[in-house]
Amino acid sequence: MTNLFDPALYAGARRPLTEAETLPSWCYTSAEFHQREIERIFRPRWRFVGREDELQGEGAYRTIETFAGPVIVVRKRDGALNAFLNSCRHRGAQLLEGEGNCTSIVCPYHSWKFGLDGALLGAPAMEKSKNFDRNEHGLVPVRLETWRGFVFVNPNRDAAPLLSAWGDMPEVLGPYRFEEMVCVRRIEFDIACNWKMVTENAMEEYHTGTVHRVSLGQQQGEAVDTRGEWDALFIEQATTIALMTGEASPLPFITDLPAKHRSGTYFTMMYPSLQFACTQDCMWWLDFQPNGPERTKVSVGFCFPRSTVARPDFQQVVQRYYARWETSIAEDNGIGEVQQRGMRASGRPPGRLSWKEHHVHKLGNWVLDQVLDRPAPARVAAE
Ligand code: FES
Ligand SMILES: [Fe+2]
Repeated sequence: MTNLFDPALYAGARRPLTEAETLPSWCYTSAEFHQREIERIFRPRWRFVGREDELQGEGAYRTIETFAGPVIVVRKRDGALNAFLNSCRHRGAQLLEGEGNCTSIVCPYHSWKFGLDGALLGAPAMEKSKNFDRNEHGLVPVRLETWRGFVFVNPNRDAAPLLSAWGDMPEVLGPYRFEEMVCVRRIEFDIACNWKMVTENAMEEYHTGTVHRVSLGQQQGEAVDTRGEWDALFIEQATTIALMTGEASPLPFITDLPAKHRSGTYFTMMYPSLQFACTQDCMWWLDFQPNGPERTKVSVGFCFPRSTVARPDFQQVVQRYYARWETSIAEDNGIGEVQQRGMRASGRPPGRLSWKEHHVHKLGNWVLDQVLDRPAPARVAAE
């Protein structure tokens, strides 16, 4: 049996961009390759949840599936966000589903009741259970960090801090003042392709003249040098890119943007699969979460500065932004599914890459860095 993680299988993908091949088809279809990606890439890393402003007021909660199981994010009485394993301390039932508001968390099985801080407040008919101390049976906390209004969780207690992986991303994206934004709409999709297809697609503009011929037209991007596990593509355009071709920005630019940020749009990818697209008047995220080797959950959120959302014409104007996003995202999701179907052709040899696919090459090589078997460390000769 072939060892899928033998580095020798990937010599073509490892060559420099202009000589490189694409990843082999099985990287997009194989359950075994997928399982390795989950273990080495997704499970240990921080999981994106959404925006703090989506959780308004005491008791607002959102549940989320991580690769280490279900998690609850809830706003406590003191206004801070908490995260817990979404699993009852009695016999393990999942406590909450979806999103909503609660004053306490009551298990649907035997009504154990937990406070918003996770403390066990009530456990019926436990008085005869010996040495049962309520204080030892609160919800299991999960690490939570926020960055400029974005919320992340990590069930791995030993994980390095959120920003430690993303190098200079905070410096490059800081000027967008995400902390002054609100999420005005969120959409989720479940699409039939591997997570890397949508992730790669989100970082190359090579396809725009074909897939978005009518909606966006051909875009021209330049690769940005980044430090850390993230990547960026800059597309120069003096008006917002969040509207269809040729429309001027009807909404004000974000306050005090530096000249570079005023002159175009940053499409970024926080590895493995969280995109922040940042243009002059707004930002939107795309989060791609694998759901098996050939399915991906896509979550998209659209954020504008609070002051923009307060404008009397906002609800009317933003419809044009929604129309653009709905069109382009449907086109991108659709082409991902088309690519997945073709990728199943057995015996298909790897393809070659254009110089415009710098980011596809970079992501593929980063994935290989994570999942391939590593050569045994050289032994140091004893003195
Ligand atoms: S499993 Fe939750 S109260 Fe029994
Ligand atoms: Fe696209």
